[in-house]
Amino acid sequence: MPDHGHLIVTDDDATRIITMRRPQKKNAITQSMYVAMSNAIDTAQNNPDIRCIVITGGSGVFTSGNDLEDFLNDGTADAGAPRASAATKFLYSLAHNVKPLIAAVDGVAIGIGTTMLFHCDYVLASTTATFTTPFIHLGLVPEGASSLLMPRTMGHQRAFAALVMGRAITAEDARIAGFVNVVVGPGHTEAEARKVAREICALPAEAVAISRKLLKTPPEDLTRRIDQESHLFGERMRSKEAIAAFKGFFARRKT
Ligand code: COA
Repeated sequence: MPDHGHLIVTDDDATRIITMRRPQKKNAITQSMYVAMSNAIDTAQNNPDIRCIVITGGSGVFTSGNDLEDFLNDGTADAGAPRASAATKFLYSLAHNVKPLIAAVDGVAIGIGTTMLFHCDYVLASTTATFTTPFIHLGLVPEGASSLLMPRTMGHQRAFAALVMGRAITAEDARIAGFVNVVVGPGHTEAEARKVAREICALPAEAVAISRKLLKTPPEDLTRRIDQESHLFGERMRSKEAIAAFKGFFARRKT
């Protein structure tokens, strides 16, 4: 599945940099981008030369989340068709990842753009970053183990406002809520993320790996929740509410 150059993977010394680059669609993530992101994470796992991973959308936007055209195609496909397996595989890659993962969020982080951050170890956001999980407005339910990780990180009430009410979170509120480490000026997140990566790469690798594992929710707990959510998400994608919402998004663009 070619990613059409929408996903760039480069290694900078011991840091793997994964860059979403589809600016004309606000870095909406396609099936092939998910596959490429999974591969970039999976191939780092047993590579001792890679000690840290950075995920970024470059300047101005992190990602507008799953490509809604793909959602619409999946939602209207035959009932037996497998749904968004590439997205689920990417979430599995995040759940099983053992390398320190840093996110550089400059601009909007929507849907999986926000939920993936709860699998990260360090998150930098620009002052213009916003975090939105509008699953409800699309007739959907939370994914990416966010129904487990978001309330754990920020408390039930804040998670409810984000995941169930679809309220946006500013960069500063995200820092206060505990899932953003530091807020920097627009255009500076990636450079700052590289600095953080260098700091982590300079630490004793084995001790980092063991300590990180102690801190993280075990992968099997994450994948169990990802499976539960994916099952419900797949059902909801075929619902009249969801299909109307997907079509409504593209109809709005044409008016
Ligand atoms: N999937 C597919 N295409 C998307 C997209 C998505 N998630 N997000 C944006 N795009 C496309 C738009 O259709 C538009 O394409 P066009 O130029 O061919 O018409 C282009 O990206 C630019 O988006 P636009 O809406 O014009 O930019 P904006 O600055 O006004 O708004 C967003 C940006 C991200 C706030 C808005 O596009 C949006 O809300 N996107 C949907 C987010 C979403 O619901 N994601 C799923 C989460 S589960």
